[in-house]
Amino acid sequence: MSITSVGIVGAGTMGSGIAINVAQSGLSVYLSDLSEESLDRAKSSATKFFNRAADKGRISQDQADEALGRITTGTDLNPLGQCDLVIEAVFEDLDIKLETFRKLSAIARDDTILATNTSCLKVSDIAEAVKDPGLFIGTHYFSPAQLNPLVEVIKGEKTRDEVVEKVLEFCKKTSKKPLLCRDQNGFAVNRFFCPYTNEAVRCVDEGLASPEQLDTIAQSVLGTAFGPFAVMNIVKPQVNLHAIRHLEPLGPYYQAADGMIRVGDAGENWSLGEAEAASPETTRTVGNRLRGSVFFTILQALDEQVAEPAAFDMGAQQALRFEQPPCQTMDSLGKEAVEELVRPLCEIYNTPMPRSLDRVGGLVL
Ligand SMILES: NC(=O)c1ccc[n+]([C@@H]2O[C@H](COP(=O)([O-])OP(=O)(O)OC[C@H]3O[C@@H](n4cnc5c(N)ncnc54)[C@H](O)[C@@H]3O)[C@@H](O)[C@H]2O)c1
Repeated sequence: MSITSVGIVGAGTMGSGIAINVAQSGLSVYLSDLSEESLDRAKSSATKFFNRAADKGRISQDQADEALGRITTGTDLNPLGQCDLVIEAVFEDLDIKLETFRKLSAIARDDTILATNTSCLKVSDIAEAVKDPGLFIGTHYFSPAQLNPLVEVIKGEKTRDEVVEKVLEFCKKTSKKPLLCRDQNGFAVNRFFCPYTNEAVRCVDEGLASPEQLDTIAQSVLGTAFGPFAVMNIVKPQVNLHAIRHLEPLGPYYQAADGMIRVGDAGENWSLGEAEAASPETTRTVGNRLRGSVFFTILQALDEQVAEPAAFDMGAQQALRFEQPPCQTMDSLGKEAVEELVRPLCEIYNTPMPRSLDRVGGLVL
């Protein structure tokens, strides 16, 4: 049986966005939160979203009203017990998530799939709270969840294959592009995105270029829609620092840069003004550092079978709007050129060359 009724716990930024996406796809959704204020905000953002779509002529006013009508809300958890799928989007705190899933597991039907939207915690650690971890999975949406097409689907250690299949099918039914990945730090996208922002900050720390120059160079060299500093300001440097800290167990390359710690811990944004043009030499040096970072971390993740090369490319394009898919770019550059970009990082951070370098040339081409 496929998923037709959906519940969400946590009506903040992500929960409210996911609810809009589900309702827009024709499915009913029950959105729950401890806070009435969060529920009111979620309802008003859904109302705005669907009315705006009607005003712009993308849907009729009747369709907007029907979509809104498919979202019900409440502080009571009990209705979630009757859903085919419950997605948790409460605060990023292991204890709060464990407590939430203990409660959900006690009221859920025997076949209800329980999913977490955690960004950084291990899905298998959260699964400890439920009666049947075979029915537990990660669904990592990207902000804004009502618009961003990507969802990382994370198979926990005990997630059953049929559960993965149902969730992949659900993602497609709700117009999302699922990226199946393993339960490793950073999953697939943050595994290379966070270190890339960290490398950009290291370049600034070393005085190679200004944040504004870094943004311009990243846009030209990697074909990103926005540079790393502009993106960090959207995500918030504090949130980015938190995500990087979860990658630190992966090795010395993943330690947060000094500037990242300074700005993140202060709760500040990067101050960005007009970019003074960087010299061709700076552009080459910094561009190579950024490309080396993306390639190095993806090759390492391929060694660990975090996801398929094509999945990394889809993640880069769909969630981060990289015009140049990294694995395809590595294939086009060829093994020698990629090795030249990655070797300096292996030497500085005393890390072996990823074995997946040998696959370059045939990663996706
Ligand atoms: N914001 C993002 O860009 C983003 C992206 C991907 C994943 N995530 C993850 O999604 C989750 C939610 O993040 P967010 O940004 O939406 O947070 P948020 O702070 O906007 O919302 C969290 C909501 O959870 C509610 N809540 C807290 N404890 C609860 C409980 N025990 N029961 C019911 N409701 C409870 C809060 O009242 C709040 O409305 C986190 O795990 C986060 O890491 C966030």
